[in-house]
Amino acid sequence: MSKLKRFLPLILIFGSLLTLLGIKKIKEAHQPDLPTVGILQPLSHPALDEIHRGIVAGLASAGYHNHQNIKIDFQNAQNDQSNLRLMSNRFVTEKAKITIGIATPAAQSLANATKQLPIILGAITDPASANLVKNNQHPGANITGVSDQAPIQKQLDLMQAIMPQLKTVGILYSSSDNSATSQMHLFKQLAEQKGLQVVEACLSSVNDLEQVSQNLAPKVDAIYVPTDNTIASAMGTLVHVTDKTKTPVFPSAETMVKDGGLATVGLSQYDLGVETGKMAAAVLSGRSKPASTPIRYLRKGHLVLNLKKAKDLHITIPQNLVKTAKEKGAIIK
Ligand code: TRP
Repeated sequence: MSKLKRFLPLILIFGSLLTLLGIKKIKEAHQPDLPTVGILQPLSHPALDEIHRGIVAGLASAGYHNHQNIKIDFQNAQNDQSNLRLMSNRFVTEKAKITIGIATPAAQSLANATKQLPIILGAITDPASANLVKNNQHPGANITGVSDQAPIQKQLDLMQAIMPQLKTVGILYSSSDNSATSQMHLFKQLAEQKGLQVVEACLSSVNDLEQVSQNLAPKVDAIYVPTDNTIASAMGTLVHVTDKTKTPVFPSAETMVKDGGLATVGLSQYDLGVETGKMAAAVLSGRSKPASTPIRYLRKGHLVLNLKKAKDLHITIPQNLVKTAKEKGAIIK
């Protein structure tokens, strides 16, 4: 038998494999363009990353799967304003079917880029005060979505349940963060109604965080931190400072408790994302229009306790709270 004959079967198998691969490539290239869903996130921190994960799951739960019937174009601006602008404009030029803005800076950038494309808000605390919609109940244009407005009264009640001797409370927030300032005002009002003394401390950028928290911590019994994008991305820096004076930090989001806060009654960031994904799906399918869809609120907060932090700070958390957190919330050990 000649050499060629002996290798013929192998050559044939190899040849047909190549042909099959070639056909697959051609098919892929000829697949009709899938509608693009542009998702814009301004920076990474655990809460926004969870929201992003939830959005993809929410779209899928409503039948929209990446690479099957939609193309998800996810962009993270890495905390750079000019990236936000570029990425928003890109969604417009690539004719995305719908866009999703995670957090206020992304939503505002998308809103500046288009008045036509639907924009779904992913966890924007107060869309009206951020000038994203005319009215949270009646958005009226191309924008609607989900608010992450936290149960602030319950958060304050929790602080007092854990620290019955609480008299002076600091609020730490970024002046440029609409989400943080809107919660700061609410918290301040409620705290003063309860007879607490409130000390405001405001940062203009993450570079101030260490200095500002160093000044604040010795003056107060505890520090409240709203859903502030800058602080959420630098919890380590804050807690490093507050641990020195053993000052507990009560953040507004569960992810920030994991990152060294003491406790909160907070919304699930993942669930906020899922809701956002579902709202996007409803608009994609033509079942709803942003103009006539009210901003959606998630009402169910759950108790999250960081028992390791409590131990470090020598704070005893009442047993009934530990029990509730175990049963219906979460405990970090
Ligand atoms: N609400 C914030 C905004 O509108 C975004 C956000 C959602 C957030 N969850 C958070 C910020 C948790 C800090 C921590 O920009």
